[in-house]
Amino acid sequence: MENFVFYSPTYFVFGKDEESKAGKYVRRFGASKVLIHYGGGSVVRSGLLARVKASLENEGIEFVELGGVKPNPRSGLVYTGIDLCRKEKVDFVLAVGGGSTIDSAKAIAAGVVYEGDFWDYFQGKVITKALPIGTILTISAAGSEGSPDAVITNENGMYKRGATGEALRPAFSVLNPALTQTLSPYQIACGITDIMAHLFERYFTTTQEVEVTDRMIEGLLLAMIHEAPRVIKDTNNYQALANIMWAGMMAHNNSCGVGRAQDWASHDIEHELSAIYDCAHGAGLAVVFPAWMTYNMKHDINRFAQLAVRVWGCQMDFAQPENTAKAGIAALKQFLQSIGMPTDFAGLGAKEEDIEKMAHTACYGDGRKGTIGGFASLSKNDLVAIYRLML
Ligand code: NZQ
Ligand code: ZN
Repeated sequence: MENFVFYSPTYFVFGKDEESKAGKYVRRFGASKVLIHYGGGSVVRSGLLARVKASLENEGIEFVELGGVKPNPRSGLVYTGIDLCRKEKVDFVLAVGGGSTIDSAKAIAAGVVYEGDFWDYFQGKVITKALPIGTILTISAAGSEGSPDAVITNENGMYKRGATGEALRPAFSVLNPALTQTLSPYQIACGITDIMAHLFERYFTTTQEVEVTDRMIEGLLLAMIHEAPRVIKDTNNYQALANIMWAGMMAHNNSCGVGRAQDWASHDIEHELSAIYDCAHGAGLAVVFPAWMTYNMKHDINRFAQLAVRVWGCQMDFAQPENTAKAGIAALKQFLQSIGMPTDFAGLGAKEEDIEKMAHTACYGDGRKGTIGGFASLSKNDLVAIYRLML
């Protein structure tokens, strides 16, 4: 295990009806004027936004609103939010929605207190200062409710980049699984896929002797494999949704990623797809991950075989562990298909003729140095080969 620092100061409130205390939590973290940020309307239709506003009013906390965050959130609305916060002297940003809304809120919170262009942060500058952020989560997926990261699509070129910094960890996050009961089976499956992807990105490591975090990751993956079919069958299953919601947070607040090198190439490969074709991030990952695994298992067959045995229940082939590794990848593919995820480019509306461009942007765009990935270092040619496996 490597040395590490783990700082996760978010105050998590988990359970039914907790969003009705939003005003109390906002007050607890020192807000006097709040920006309520939300997406395309699901929180209006469900009545959640009205409940949150009533809670702030009851506490006598002033607020302004900015809706309209799109999935794969855009830079344009971030600039609008920054201007609004400065004009209204906002000192707290409350995101009500999914990962896209939370990420847009994080970018606004960082941009308000930064004199330069907020996009600097998405080109590698670490975020050390931001307005405090609160979240009321409505979909279990991105893990942004506990992470120090934000992902934004730059509309000038339509490419996606991430920014990071401890200042982006939310001050509080309300996790009420009942708020996710309005999601479709497809949206829930996309979320589960993203949660599993966050675990795979950490599992594929070059660091030795990481048994505790290996076992945590395997445990969370097994829980997702157990809960997914239950919740796809009955999207009202509160207990299954509750387990998925906490797994989504655990998978990405890095409690199971500490002390080990991580990969993240699959996320970079996927971000090109969701930036260009506007597919759901989780759906993109369902297509990317089996291809990335097939291409990269040669780098550590035993680790792939270990995953296959411990998580997918495959029989270990000691003479040819490659067979076990392959069986694990096949089991993952079958699982993703069983929960309604796409399996190839066609399922994402992606086109073969864009492969070169995506591989190039992933490796060289916006100051990148030509390779991505911590487990296996991948060049543009490697990415072309991986994208081709998805055709
Ligand atoms: O916009 P509204 O109307 O709210 O509808 C949303 C959106 O259309 C809908 N939705 C959310 N909660 C709902 C609901 N519909 C009905 N009932 C509910 N309870 O779901 C759609 C997708 O929402 P979105 O916020 O885009 O989903 P998700 O949480 O999967 O976020 C995806 C974004 O997160 C980024 C991704 O790249 C993508 O842009 N990521 C952020 C990370 C982070 N900050 O740490 C890490 C992740 O790896 C990921 O890259
Ligand atoms: Zn993700």
